[in-house]
Amino acid sequence: METGKNGVSRRSFMKRSLVTGAAVSGLSIIGSPVVLGQAKKVFKIGLIGCGGRGRGAILNSVEAAEFLRENGVSVEVKVTALSDIYKDNLDATRKRLKDKGFDVPDAGCFFGFDGYKKLIDSGVDVVLLATPPVFRPLHLETAIKAGKHVFMEKPVAVDPVGAHRIIAAGELAKEKGLAITAGTQRRHQNTYLEGFKYVQDGAIGDILGGAVYWGGGSSWEQPRKPGWSNADYMIKNWANFVEMSGDHIIEQHVHNIDVMTWFLGGPPRVAIGFGARMRRNTGNQFDFFSVDFQFSKNRVHVHSMCRQIDGCYGRISEELIGRKGTMRSGRVKLFSKKKLARLELPVHRNPYVQEHVDLLEGVIKGKLFNEAKTVAESTMTGMMGRISAYTGKPVRWSDVASPEGRLTKLQLSPTAEDFEKGDVKVPEEKPPIPGREA
Ligand SMILES: NC(=O)c1ccc[n+]([C@@H]2O[C@H](COP(=O)([O-])OP(=O)(O)OC[C@H]3O[C@@H](n4cnc5c(N)ncnc54)[C@H](O)[C@@H]3O)[C@@H](O)[C@H]2O)c1
Repeated sequence: METGKNGVSRRSFMKRSLVTGAAVSGLSIIGSPVVLGQAKKVFKIGLIGCGGRGRGAILNSVEAAEFLRENGVSVEVKVTALSDIYKDNLDATRKRLKDKGFDVPDAGCFFGFDGYKKLIDSGVDVVLLATPPVFRPLHLETAIKAGKHVFMEKPVAVDPVGAHRIIAAGELAKEKGLAITAGTQRRHQNTYLEGFKYVQDGAIGDILGGAVYWGGGSSWEQPRKPGWSNADYMIKNWANFVEMSGDHIIEQHVHNIDVMTWFLGGPPRVAIGFGARMRRNTGNQFDFFSVDFQFSKNRVHVHSMCRQIDGCYGRISEELIGRKGTMRSGRVKLFSKKKLARLELPVHRNPYVQEHVDLLEGVIKGKLFNEAKTVAESTMTGMMGRISAYTGKPVRWSDVASPEGRLTKLQLSPTAEDFEKGDVKVPEEKPPIPGREA
């Protein structure tokens, strides 16, 4: 069988909607004769946040269009706009794009904390959001109100107020016929899509429990330099302030938490968490968390662990245990030793590219992806664990999610709006101490 360079045969692409598209939530729908032969669809794309991930995301979007074309979909993306706080970051992205044949003109480059508005108003069709998480709700809301399709990086908020704004923007997107995909890439990855289908079909039986892990090394930090404003200091140290990142239980571990909520059909009922700070020199986050998430269905417990300390055991994975087998990072194994067939799912081998395939293809076919709610709920689940560990008290889903929940109105500051107003105070650089009232 002829296989494309991305590991998907044209034939399997053509079959996808008939064989698996409906069965596996999240799979896309290329290959319909309706798309083949249609006039070329051109998307103008703009990126807000030209750091490491933003640079990757915009190239992933370009690759997604190439992949769609290889598979008979007449589509082109044109990168027309970039926005960042810092010129050197924007210039580095601009250069990478120039090497790929995209010359973003000066008129398409927007700086400053209000640059996102100018980019959104610059005539783009699709906006990619890859700033630190604190800005995501404001940027998503503005993009959707302006009628733009959005790819947004995870996590999508740092507090419950932000997560609820994401959900509301997601609902507005549905009303306006706009697509939203998120950077929780496991939902676009072959192994996980296959595992999800098997688990949904009952291959491992009822889920009895599990564990999700992000055991990683320490992240970067930046001591304050003379001449930096408070905003500069917090932006350059965003991964060390809970107000900017949501803490690493959300910023990194949301990937594994998202697999947990996806496979278990929604968020947990309650979180009981532990954690502490041992080695950080800047900011106010913890270095590790250990959280027991308890789900209503069958009172299932899933243990979540995440750590950012060098020299420790490293593991990034998810495991669910059922009556008849296990799911480990997407792969399903049965206790009976019976082998399950590998499904040839018609997705790009790189899930970071597939996120954009799903976005663009959904728009072309009028079957819009909208991941705002799922990623907001996974982000809020991480918040339950974080707040429980910070305070030493259980946190229920109703505390953060229901309109009258005791934490639903929790908003950290400085907010995205404070950055735009230039009113940024650096929070106290101490971690919370569980058991003490704040
Ligand atoms: N899906 C994944 O696997 C994955 C991997 C890495 C990062 N991420 C996520 O992507 C996001 C960005 O991470 P990164 O590693 O690229 O960070 P980064 O620090 O490298 O880049 C962030 C960029 O945003 C710019 N910026 C900050 N505030 C801005 C604002 N208000 N308007 C415009 N630009 C602004 C910064 O100057 C910087 O260039 C984070 O949410 C992170 O969690 C996801």
